[in-house]
Amino acid sequence: MGFRVAIVGATGAVGSEMLKILEERDFPVDRLLPLASPRSAGKQLRFRGEPVTVEALGSSLPKDLDLALFAASKDIAQQYARATAAQGTLVVDNSRAFRLDPDVPLIVPEVNPEAAAGHSGIIANPNCSTIAFVVAIAPLHRLAGLERATIATYQAVSGAGNPGLRELEAQTRAWAHDQAAPEPSAFPHPILFNLIPRIDTIGALGYTGEEWKMVHESRKILNHPEARIAVTCVRVPVLRSHSLAIFAELARPLGVAEACQALAAADGVQLVQEPAAEPYPTPLQAADTDTVYVGRVRRDPSHPRGLALWAVMDQLRKGAASNAVQIAELVLCGSRHGPASS
Ligand SMILES: NC(=O)c1ccc[n+]([C@@H]2O[C@H](COP(=O)([O-])OP(=O)(O)OC[C@H]3O[C@@H](n4cnc5c(N)ncnc54)[C@H](OP(=O)(O)O)[C@@H]3O)[C@@H](O)[C@H]2O)c1
Repeated sequence: MGFRVAIVGATGAVGSEMLKILEERDFPVDRLLPLASPRSAGKQLRFRGEPVTVEALGSSLPKDLDLALFAASKDIAQQYARATAAQGTLVVDNSRAFRLDPDVPLIVPEVNPEAAAGHSGIIANPNCSTIAFVVAIAPLHRLAGLERATIATYQAVSGAGNPGLRELEAQTRAWAHDQAAPEPSAFPHPILFNLIPRIDTIGALGYTGEEWKMVHESRKILNHPEARIAVTCVRVPVLRSHSLAIFAELARPLGVAEACQALAAADGVQLVQEPAAEPYPTPLQAADTDTVYVGRVRRDPSHPRGLALWAVMDQLRKGAASNAVQIAELVLCGSRHGPASS
């Protein structure tokens, strides 16, 4: 038996990955309904080798759906998700609309699958950099207790969806042809040959919305409200995969060897450490996989219980689409498949 599945935002950067991932993971789909804005109505996508036609999102989703994967904006999630869940459809939402709602589980299957049990129709998919952080830190937190983390992120342009991706491509093409680049619109500055240390709007204490998401969402997923976390999020001219430099202070000292052993054994993590000649992963290596790669695990010489690490993850897949499909597998199929690809 299969499920009737809708993807809201099927033409977007995350939604189009969802089609691929449902297919790759052989998720039991009986009928697939790709939904997007009226601009995309009639557009043909492919699923399991067959064309599927995009429909415009109407005033509600069909009543007979088992699963709705939302990969559109927060406003669309707020407008449609509760009514869809009330029809008996499981909603897995990728936006920030419900992530901090105490009645909505925020799930990373490798870290807190048990929290899905209490769901009442909607499950939230965390922020992408948050997923990379919690998958990498959870094995160390379980062993030695996370007290504090300071993190810098290096986030790919596709984190801003298709418009972000197109902007870097257009600026690269213009540079290659010695032409003037179009005015930036997805980002506040040119992103080619640049870094932009602001993702989302600047808010409380001068931190951005993206930075606060990582603080609050990590605490919720790790079930650790006292965790002290401070973040700087930076947009970088990389097409896909976010990277994180993490400094973690633990409640008890943890040696590098012990930390590496825990990371190597952890679900969803691949350790890239000595004896590898280049003991660190890069965004290109992580692209198109569902793994959180961790390397450069080392002592923080400035703190007696400090560890430093570098983590990289394809944020369109494990940071969004694959995590959402894993949540659906967990809830609808009762299974907890690990990453499909590495
Ligand atoms: N990109 C990432 O790395 C990432 C990671 C984690 C979470 N997320 C979250 O995932 C969601 C989707 O992000 P994205 O990066 O995929 O954005 P995107 O590439 O801009 O795609 C947005 C999707 O929403 C659809 N849409 C826009 N207006 C609509 C409307 N009025 N009715 C129905 N559909 C509409 C678009 O359809 P059209 O093509 O017809 O415009 C498109 O399919 C966002 O909430 C984002 O915060 C993104």
